[in-house]
Amino acid sequence: MARPRVLSGIQPTADSFHLGNYLGAVRQWVTLQETHDAYYCVVDLHAITVPTEPDALRRRSRVAAAQLFAAGLDPERSTVFVQSHVREHTELAWILICLTGMGEAARMTQFKDKSAKYGESAASVGLFTYPILQAADILLYQADSVPVGADQKQHLELTRDLGQRFNHRFGETFTLPEPYILKEVEKITDLQDPSAKMSKSSSSPAGILDVLEQPGPLRKKVMRAVTDTGSEVLFDEENKPGISNLLRIQSALTGTPIPELVARYDGQGYGTFKKDVAEAVVEAFTPIRERTEKLLSDEAELDRMLAIGARRASEVARRTMEMVRDRVGFLSA
Ligand code: AMP
Ligand code: TRP
Repeated sequence: MARPRVLSGIQPTADSFHLGNYLGAVRQWVTLQETHDAYYCVVDLHAITVPTEPDALRRRSRVAAAQLFAAGLDPERSTVFVQSHVREHTELAWILICLTGMGEAARMTQFKDKSAKYGESAASVGLFTYPILQAADILLYQADSVPVGADQKQHLELTRDLGQRFNHRFGETFTLPEPYILKEVEKITDLQDPSAKMSKSSSSPAGILDVLEQPGPLRKKVMRAVTDTGSEVLFDEENKPGISNLLRIQSALTGTPIPELVARYDGQGYGTFKKDVAEAVVEAFTPIRERTEKLLSDEAELDRMLAIGARRASEVARRTMEMVRDRVGFLSA
């Protein structure tokens, strides 16, 4: 039997992934390539939904791709590609846009948050249709499973609704995907504000741990992470959100269950615990940073790897679109 298929995407909107991206998404991508037919894309079309400088976009697209390979995606097993290289994404997005209600799109909370930030009238129509392009990314590859963080749940629901609507109106065409969200790491929070998710749009860099950051600053940020009143290392989301976040991080990085960590730091205070968390982060990120730097030192080779990914992805996308065009009623050329 064919392997189930997995697809996910990440935006090239920062000079590094952060710990939330890594634990919430990318690490699962690496695991899933063992059992699934895997497609992962750097979603540059999504990146331009907010004002983006061309040179920064070029640089960040390569940095994103390099980090994916450096984190363990194997180009032999996973198809890693840049979204804009496969023209079918925008074509399918248009068709799905025509199946989406205005009210349905207006309910998307990520749009509401982002448009509030840029100002209602400054937000582009592209930002409004962002989740529909994401639905196209997923449906185009007939993905069974989509590994993401908790913030993407609503977009996955929209994707299923649109896939179902198309199937109902035009005949069975799309696989309806399931989100793949690991509860323990679905929302890594900001080190300075444990009520907010770790995010590149956060106001202060002190709360974000970047994968490509040097050990020195990484250690400093963990040691300065806001901790809660008291001095005991306990998992208590309600009263100790900061320590609970660090416990989740430490547990995910070392594979040690949280209760075992709590027992280990019993009576030791926050200092020793934070030092160990910092070491776990440095240990996880250092090899990824070094491999990323190496991959970025040969852009031609990196671009070649992405061209191979684009060819493989295009093959699948082309087959889906042939079916879609016919079902919608477009004449064949
Ligand atoms: P983005 O950088 O917005 O393209 O996000 C890439 C992936 O990382 C998505 O699957 C997000 O859900 C996931 N992600 C982003 N921030 C976090 C976080 N703080 N905790 C867990 N997952 C996250
Ligand atoms: N919207 C996702 C995010 O902000 C990125 C994304 C674009 C994506 N297309 C996708 C995720 C397809 C999963 C599948 O993180």
